[in-house]
Amino acid sequence: MRPETRLFFRRWLANPGQVASLYPSSDKLSDLIASKVLRSEEDFVLEVGAGTGSIGRALVRAGLPQNRLVMIELDEPMCAALREEFPESLVVAGDALRPSALIPQELKGRVTTCVSGLPILHYKLDRQRAFVEDVFSLMDASPRLVQYGNMPRPPIAHRPLNLSVRRLGFGWSGVVPHFIWEFSPA
Ligand SMILES: C[S@@+](CC[C@H](N)C(=O)[O-])C[C@H]1O[C@@H](n2cnc3c(N)ncnc32)[C@H](O)[C@@H]1O
Repeated sequence: MRPETRLFFRRWLANPGQVASLYPSSDKLSDLIASKVLRSEEDFVLEVGAGTGSIGRALVRAGLPQNRLVMIELDEPMCAALREEFPESLVVAGDALRPSALIPQELKGRVTTCVSGLPILHYKLDRQRAFVEDVFSLMDASPRLVQYGNMPRPPIAHRPLNLSVRRLGFGWSGVVPHFIWEFSPA
């Protein structure tokens, strides 16, 4: 078992509700997500709920420089591992539901896409609204949130939040199906 998989499982045992998955996303799923997130050389990605770095690793494999990647993760031991593996990325320990309160002022407006592995399907509407509005406030042009999850329906209440939604892809992480969605202001 890879060290990051062991750490992920240990942190799930410590806090199953928060970690919300037994294992990190597989390389195959992460590469698929990265291919949907990245669009140009101008990409600057905010990842929320970064876990042990599966998606960040795939983004870097796909060509994103580490210094154009910011990761927010609530779990301290996972953050420590992320800082070691991604020394040029900004890794912030904290609650990603309000990322604008956690990232430095000079990065606001530079973010081109937020990718999220947060268990957002389980959040109440007001919480989803506050998160999405805050994420979009970090992006100057064409705000977009790429969210992945296990359900075959959009994990964010897009109609009441007046968002347009597109399914970007479908893949497997082990035996668990994942759907990849893009949300943007309607
Ligand atoms: C389903 S896991 C996904 C991990 C990783 N992105 C992956 O694909 O392997 C969700 C992650 O979000 C983190 N998380 C949950 N709620 C959070 C919050 N409010 N702020 C920051 N991270 C959070 C968990 O600790 C966990 O690492």
